[in-house]
Amino acid sequence: MDARELKILAADAALRHVTDGMRLGIGTGSTAEEFIRLLAKKVAQGLRVTGVPTSERSAALCRELGVPLATLDQLPQLDLTVDGTDEIDPDFNLIKGGGGALLREKIVAAASAKMVVIADASKLVPKLGFFPLPIEVNLFGLKSTILAIEKAADGLGLHGELTVRSKNGVDFLTDGGHLIVDASFGLIVDATALSHALHAIPGVVEHGMFLNMATTAVIAGAGGIRTLER
Ligand code: A5P
Repeated sequence: MDARELKILAADAALRHVTDGMRLGIGTGSTAEEFIRLLAKKVAQGLRVTGVPTSERSAALCRELGVPLATLDQLPQLDLTVDGTDEIDPDFNLIKGGGGALLREKIVAAASAKMVVIADASKLVPKLGFFPLPIEVNLFGLKSTILAIEKAADGLGLHGELTVRSKNGVDFLTDGGHLIVDASFGLIVDATALSHALHAIPGVVEHGMFLNMATTAVIAGAGGIRTLER
């Protein structure tokens, strides 16, 4: 099976967690897009759900395929969020934000009673940090914020390149109008400490570590689907 087939397999298995009438957080990324396509088919067959998208990109796909949407202000408490991930460790801690939607993804996941993560087995890691950590930062004071991130990481024994994300030669801007700094720290020994240290920096809007948020992981590999509950 190729990577896309595995993503479809995981997305399809996650549909089993979606029931009629749900208020549903809808993730971002290529795996979440497969979920949206399958969800749209169920909606066309009569499933009633209202989705709250985590990005403009996912919102556009939902509209195109006829998935009913609401804003998080209209539905501030959600039953379930289904989203992809860039990494998942054995404790269901995640690194997200490879697609740049980490802030809305985290706000939506935090407003949800449950979070189902869908991924192919390549996303499983023994410890977070193989994937560069996306950090969403305010445009104002970028250099000061980068220096503060370096200092905070250094205090935790973490070192590595910090790269301001760009796309087609221009700075990548998130849906919220912020920049993303990708931090190649390597293995993150104490994710909680790093989370606190980053949150203490005024220019940091949010980081891509989702700690203790996912309740279920649906992992597709060569041997089929594994659903893990926390
Ligand atoms: C979007 O910002 C990310 O958090 C995605 O959920 C993550 O990058 C996974 O994307 P893929 O499913 O495309 O790998």
